[in-house]
Amino acid sequence: MKSVLIEIRGCNSKEELIEVVSLCDSAFPKTRREYFERHVLKDNTLNKKDTRILLIEGKIVSSVQVFPRTIYVQKEKIQMAGIGNVATLPSQRGKGYAGLLIKDSLGYIIKKGYALSMLTTSINSYYEQFGFQTVLRTIAVINCSEGKDHKEIIKFNKNNDIKDIISIYNGFNSGKIGTIARDKQYWLSQFEFCGEDEDLFLVFKTEGEILGFIRAQRKVNYISILEYAFKDNHTFVLTKLIEKLSFLTGINEFRLFLTKGEEKNIINRFSFSLTEEKDFMICFLDAKLSTKIKKALVKDRNLNFWRSDFF
Ligand SMILES: CC(C)(COP(=O)(O)OP(=O)(O)OC[C@H]1O[C@@H](n2cnc3c(N)ncnc32)[C@H](O)[C@@H]1OP(=O)(O)O)[C@@H](O)C(=O)NCCC(=O)NCCS
Repeated sequence: MKSVLIEIRGCNSKEELIEVVSLCDSAFPKTRREYFERHVLKDNTLNKKDTRILLIEGKIVSSVQVFPRTIYVQKEKIQMAGIGNVATLPSQRGKGYAGLLIKDSLGYIIKKGYALSMLTTSINSYYEQFGFQTVLRTIAVINCSEGKDHKEIIKFNKNNDIKDIISIYNGFNSGKIGTIARDKQYWLSQFEFCGEDEDLFLVFKTEGEILGFIRAQRKVNYISILEYAFKDNHTFVLTKLIEKLSFLTGINEFRLFLTKGEEKNIINRFSFSLTEEKDFMICFLDAKLSTKIKKALVKDRNLNFWRSDFF
């Protein structure tokens, strides 16, 4: 049998990254190329080597991206490596290439000192063989029966509002489980890769003070809420932000991942239903990671991973 030359390594050039975009574009027929351009080319938190590739006779046939992140777990900060854009050319599947690349990527992640890895998938059993376990989340489908034009709510202005937004984000998210600890570089990069509708990034501003914000993406029949945050106990701000989104878009249905702890923010304010989602997986890589942290991360409906951080 003819032996093939297999090479596994990180990307070395922009040209190779563009080849990965084309590979992902052909591997995921339901996802638009623009999505991969954002995540492979515009996420400046990655260096080229974080996009891992398997080459056969010099041609890229498989890819895995490693996203360097830091997450909060009850005020502690943990180094986490997201895994995304796992893809093999349709003509080269079933030969173990993605498996080889995932194993190599996990070695790369461990070597860099990350304590755990996370990914989203619909083929959970495939990732179980590499040590990933499924974490239960729920999607809330919210009905906002009436949109309202609250005048205190305006469009986010990057130059004027970014400092306040970062501060509100940190206050709201640093005590949660699994939220990303974002620095300024991450924020600026995230604006480029997260795919939000910029006109649906709204802030609640009263007497010059921002009390909360919401970020969203328009889908055909509903609005996907990517994230929200508000100051102190101003839960009413979230209600008004959702009502304003409904007013602006004419859409009444909203969807978002909702933890058990966040349920209190919409209960008695909107009617909603919950559906289970098993697309999220975690792999613990650092033996020194405490049981308390591991338990908090895998507990049902405990993990708060905003859609805007999706990789
Ligand atoms: C998933 C994927 C990357 C696997 O690549 P690969 O190089 O063929 O992977 P391997 O050879 O290491 O493993 C193949 C195994 O993947 C699993 N697998 C692949 N697609 C699957 C699917 N849709 N459902 C369930 N299992 C699947 C199977 O267990 C398969 O084993 P089999 O060949 O004995 O049936 C490739 O099928 C692909 O690019 N799919 C489209 C993109 C995608 O879904 N990526 C994963 C996103 S999380």
